[in-house]
Amino acid sequence: MLQGALNESILRIARQKGLAEIRLHNLRDYTEDRHKTIDDYPYGGGPGMVLMVKPIVKALRAVFSQTDETKAQIILTTPRGRLFDQHTATRLSLREHLVILCGHYKGIDERIHDFFTIDEVSIGDYVLSAGEVAALAMVDAVVRLLPGVLKDIDSAWTDSFNDDLLDVPYYTRPEDFEGRKVPQVLLSGNHKKIAEWRLQKREKITGERRPDLYKNYKSKP
Ligand code: 6GU
Repeated sequence: MLQGALNESILRIARQKGLAEIRLHNLRDYTEDRHKTIDDYPYGGGPGMVLMVKPIVKALRAVFSQTDETKAQIILTTPRGRLFDQHTATRLSLREHLVILCGHYKGIDERIHDFFTIDEVSIGDYVLSAGEVAALAMVDAVVRLLPGVLKDIDSAWTDSFNDDLLDVPYYTRPEDFEGRKVPQVLLSGNHKKIAEWRLQKREKITGERRPDLYKNYKSKP
């Protein structure tokens, strides 16, 4: 599930340039039974399966036999987690080592928290069947912020969510496509006018689509 996506586009380039090192670990490699069991029924009953504590502890211990545990931040993907946003991505991009545990829907034996400090993180208010999908989203959001990854880092400053505003609409050639023209101001060469137009658009779109962000934006000095 992850191998393909980690070897395409920006993530591939970042890894090839040595700007990010990403390793995959399979929990089944840390089991001891013939069936390589990693989950089991929940105590107390109910539907779904729960990831077992032992393979996870073994896997994490194996990782930290190679790297310094004190320099790592361990994240568990779960819809019960704190929401991952651009601020989280920025914070995580400053960490030396991230370990992402991919939870599956019913989650993992709670006793894992007695062995490691783990932050539970969610990428949004919906349920995914596999934590790997969420982990990939986080890896992408974090890696693109690492120094040297983006060709034009200035492009990241104008991304959505910087200063709590969504990004502007963009246009490229041709100037006229089947009668639909690019807004005149963008062709004017007047940079002050263009900046004003863009800020206006950002405020309008953010107000319409994301009143929550807009409130933050308006409340700032
Ligand atoms: Cl982090 N995991 C799962 N399984 N579902 C999610 C999620 C994470 N974030 C949103 N939905």
